[in-house]
Amino acid sequence: MPPAPFKNIILIGFMGSGKSSIGRELSRNLGYPIVDTDTLIVKRAGKPILKIFEDEGEEAFRDLETAVLRQLEEDRTSRRIIATGGGIIMRAENREALRRLGFVVWLVVTAAEIVQRTSRNRDRPLLNNEDREGTIERLLEERNGLYRKTAHQELETDGLTFPEITTGIIESARYFFATL
Ligand code: S3P
Repeated sequence: MPPAPFKNIILIGFMGSGKSSIGRELSRNLGYPIVDTDTLIVKRAGKPILKIFEDEGEEAFRDLETAVLRQLEEDRTSRRIIATGGGIIMRAENREALRRLGFVVWLVVTAAEIVQRTSRNRDRPLLNNEDREGTIERLLEERNGLYRKTAHQELETDGLTFPEITTGIIESARYFFATL
């Protein structure tokens, strides 16, 4: 018999799109533990993300993303909320792994919202430069098609409350899992 399908809810989206906070809200609502790929990477590498980028570069970080997704599959991780790093969709093998792991939701945000939400934070190496706005616009352009391609559901969260967002995701996920 083939193994049972994974029943995780996976949140993807740009830095500052609310993956962690919405993830925590979903976790409280469903009683599913939350797993964060960035946290798994920091544990695996034994150092913070900034330091991984500084010492080993972006490609090494992307290798770690691929490795933690592989680990989640190997561990048969199911009934979890999985929050991801904004660039995890850059590699085709990661996009495929994400879709195998469960119901993938893209939290859609505009460049202006991202600029505002990430302005006080300095722990994102890709945004620590002179032209933050330009970088955000460029990365969004590169990535939006990939988020769209990876997601089972797209959700514009702007103007919605947490309960509205989580109820919408939970209903869609139930439907998705019921049809597997
Ligand atoms: C990144 C997003 C970050 C983190 C790393 C790279 C990206 O995660 O994985 O700094 O390439 O967009 P968040 O989306 O949680 O900020």
